[in-house]
Amino acid sequence: MDKILVIHGPNLNLLGKREVNIYGKESLDDINSKLKKSAERLKVKLEIKQSNHEGELVDLIGNAKKNFKAILLNPAAYTHTSVAIRDAIAACGIPTVEVHLSNIYSREDFRQTSLTAPVCAGQVSGFGLNSYLLGLEAAVGLIKK
Ligand code: DQA
Repeated sequence: MDKILVIHGPNLNLLGKREVNIYGKESLDDINSKLKKSAERLKVKLEIKQSNHEGELVDLIGNAKKNFKAILLNPAAYTHTSVAIRDAIAACGIPTVEVHLSNIYSREDFRQTSLTAPVCAGQVSGFGLNSYLLGLEAAVGLIKK
């Protein structure tokens, strides 16, 4: 079965407690279990990681090709700052789909630039948990293409 690597970036471990008016009441575990259910239906396997550390995210992305067909990534705050993560995505050799719970284009100016989106296959932003589910469908579509 094809495998997809799901990566949650910094502070997403705090979902459900963190700025719930923006990110919603669902915890990361809630999101992960909905993703797993959706993956069963789509007949793919997921491995799910979360890290608050830029270098660890770079390593996960850089090594992904050995075991995975695509990456579903919420780079969180690193979206707006990390050339290292952008370069890792550009170099990794498999498609990456970027997702955001909030609509980054309707928020503060500094969030309206994604350094990572231009090297991703595409981006889903603003649909809460559904951003992840839609992103997963998109990633599966790219694999099966
Ligand atoms: C986020 C948006 C980012 O700007 C923010 O730093 C996050 C979460 C989102 O999913 O809406 O941590 O990626």
